[in-house]
Amino acid sequence: MTAPGLPMTVPAEGLPARVRIHEVGARDGLQNEKTAVPTEVKAEFVRRLADAGLTTIEATSFVHPKWVPQLADAEQLFPRIADLPVDLPVLVPNERGLDRALALGARRVAVFASATESFAKANLNRTVDEALAMFEPVVSRAKAEGVHVRGYLSMCFGDPWEGPVPVPQVVRVCRALVDMGCDELSLGDTIGVATPGHVTALLTALNAADVPTPALGVHFHDTYGQALANTLAALRHGVTTVDASAGGLGGCPYAKSATGNLATEDLVWMLRGLGIDTGVDLGRLVATSVWMADRLGRPSPSRTVRALSHQEQ
Ligand code: HMG
Ligand code: MG
Repeated sequence: MTAPGLPMTVPAEGLPARVRIHEVGARDGLQNEKTAVPTEVKAEFVRRLADAGLTTIEATSFVHPKWVPQLADAEQLFPRIADLPVDLPVLVPNERGLDRALALGARRVAVFASATESFAKANLNRTVDEALAMFEPVVSRAKAEGVHVRGYLSMCFGDPWEGPVPVPQVVRVCRALVDMGCDELSLGDTIGVATPGHVTALLTALNAADVPTPALGVHFHDTYGQALANTLAALRHGVTTVDASAGGLGGCPYAKSATGNLATEDLVWMLRGLGIDTGVDLGRLVATSVWMADRLGRPSPSRTVRALSHQEQ
């Protein structure tokens, strides 16, 4: 039986039974808005995402407020949502960021490295290795406090300044993040240039370098419409953590060619069709993205949000 607004479920071989969605709309999405979204709207957004069944909701970043002014209200936002019964990871680039996050009781943090020198410089004002050195005390202190650490790696497939990124270059930085003690990695296609064969090649190379698949998540931006195909390739490889952004919000202020992340609704539609459990109520999620699109004053780029909400184009 197919309920209205849901795909027919037809399972396929070789896929996981369950996927954990790491929702990044409130961080990756809102960090890229031209104007800062009011703190109370962000808090309501996160509450609605939790109400839709998302259990990992990246809330904000404790970065330098001049670098990302859109998230300068992290201290005001976090206490407003800390009571939610969900995981609320936050980005911390350095010890100053970790101090700020720990002071508010954050239990999950993420450092964010780059596979390329150009993006490391643009995003963190550091070389790749200087950035890794900056993360080291962050990871060790977080681990000593029993805080879960995610290690993002940007530009895993291509870089706007350097072009295609060789797989071994990516593997080296992933290995460094794992050796440092990160509990999980998120492989970022920051500018959305990956294609499925490339995804499989990187995952295979990481396994060969003793980075096990359960420690890996994928983070696809959808610039060239490849994010769902890339996700399916990752699922076939055994990946069960997928980053996505409600309504397809997103981008990166320090990588101009980045567009929004894979839309959570588009992901949930595909997973639901494959019979893969996510715990997400698609109708509630679409309603949340429509509500947020109203606040932002433009329609959601998600195909699924548009189809299910009959938004004006
Ligand atoms: P810097 O200018 O080199 O900083 O920036 P610094 O270490 O020289 O410190 C300068 C001043 O900033 C000092 O103050 C520090 O205390 C202060 P002073 O002593 O001069 O008064 N400071 C801070 N203040 C508040 N919070 C902090 C902090 N750190 C230093 N955490 C820095 C280096 C890392 C701080 C800067 O480059 C930065 O904040 N970068 C963040 C960029 C960012 O957030 N980018 C977007 C997220 S990454 C992304 O979107 C990709 C991802 O989605 C995956 C993908 O798609 O690929 C994750
Ligand atoms: Mg991103």
